[in-house]
Amino acid sequence: MAYEAKQFNLPSLEGISDESVKQHLGLYAGYVKNFNAIAGKLVEYAKDAEGNAHALSELIRRKPFEFDGMRLHELYFEQFENGAKELNAESELGKKSSAEYHGYFVEYMKAIGGMRGPGWAILYYDPVGKEFQAGFVGEQHQGHLVGLPVILALDVWEHAFLLDYGAQGKGKYIDAFFKNLNWGVAEKRFSEAQK
Ligand SMILES: [Fe+2]
Repeated sequence: MAYEAKQFNLPSLEGISDESVKQHLGLYAGYVKNFNAIAGKLVEYAKDAEGNAHALSELIRRKPFEFDGMRLHELYFEQFENGAKELNAESELGKKSSAEYHGYFVEYMKAIGGMRGPGWAILYYDPVGKEFQAGFVGEQHQGHLVGLPVILALDVWEHAFLLDYGAQGKGKYIDAFFKNLNWGVAEKRFSEAQK
């Protein structure tokens, strides 16, 4: 199927400019467009898999970059909808994250976000182990934990902060991300992940 770029109902953010958000949404739309373009060519190339072997393998390898770029940005922008909301300490997410990370949950996510290189800091929940798994995904697709639902997705590519904070401003951007985060979205994702 051909995907369409979603529209997000975003408020004005504190510390992340409207222009930065606008450019970021443009990049998101690019991932959707590129995924559709790749998906459309794969079946055509597969008709002569031997003759198209190199092109086919290149596109197959590139597919997760575009797909995960599309899906992660949807998870990212949704987290700002309806405005900032603090993590409810009495919610399931609040209680479990506090217990698992001994009160250093946000600090831990910030530390992962501060890792070098373009990518994402992601909090997953493992329904089998019944515990969180936090990790760093390189670019959009390197290092995902298979099958685990995403509870929180923090984009730490330079494009997310360069305009507002410069090349060395990742830390300030990460602080702004958490300031604007609607924790209710993450709480809902966690409730659904446990079903
Ligand atoms: Fe991004």
